Amino acid sequence: MAFNIAVDGPAGAGKSTIARKVAEALSCIYVDTGAMYRAMALFFLREGILPEDEKAISEACDRITVTLSSREGEQQVFLNGENVNGLIRTEEVGIMASRTSVYGRVREKLTQLQREMARTTDLIMDGRDIGTCVLPEAQVKVYLTASVETRGKRRFLELQEKGQECELEKICQDIRQRDMQDMNREISPLRQAEDAVLIDSSDMTIEEVVAEILALVRK
Ligand code: DC
Repeated sequence: MAFNIAVDGPAGAGKSTIARKVAEALSCIYVDTGAMYRAMALFFLREGILPEDEKAISEACDRITVTLSSREGEQQVFLNGENVNGLIRTEEVGIMASRTSVYGRVREKLTQLQREMARTTDLIMDGRDIGTCVLPEAQVKVYLTASVETRGKRRFLELQEKGQECELEKICQDIRQRDMQDMNREISPLRQAEDAVLIDSSDMTIEEVVAEILALVRK
């Protein structure tokens, strides 16, 4: 059986930065499942499908193929053969992903693909439902969180660095909204698995969090 690490937590907790570093240290694959939900969301946006139209979204799922590959150690996401890595990191796509990931057809499709990858490959996978639903047998499970204020500030600085105009209070509001959506949906809501280790990164550096996860792996 392959060695699997599951990392779950709310938006902006630093999951991808940390999972990427852990993968590097362990020479294993990093799978960002949020990117897969984002790729599907991009398809729905392009088709002009509304997030509340479950029927249209479920039907559209049959016309979508999401695949992953790696280029220079970076995960690349393909939507029906098109590399969409550069198109899925916008707020619009993130919000659409959060809203459309509530549907059973969307989740089934990606969950199946994620389990398939984890069966044969040593990997660290991050998302919202990895420890609770996708990989309940993962050898190491982490629930990574941070306060809304900390996550908001990190996002604010990130956007400022990119030269994008933003407002801290609005960012915090969006984060609260996304948490609510991800934690309160019916199917596979975001929550800490019973056997997951809780790490609150509010007052920790990236290196400290990475070291804590590596220590869990060694144990
Ligand atoms: O991690 P992210 O912000 O890229 O994820 C975008 C959205 O996708 C998130 O708000 C909820 C959804 N998602 C999910 O439902 N399950 C996952 N395993 C990963 C992401």
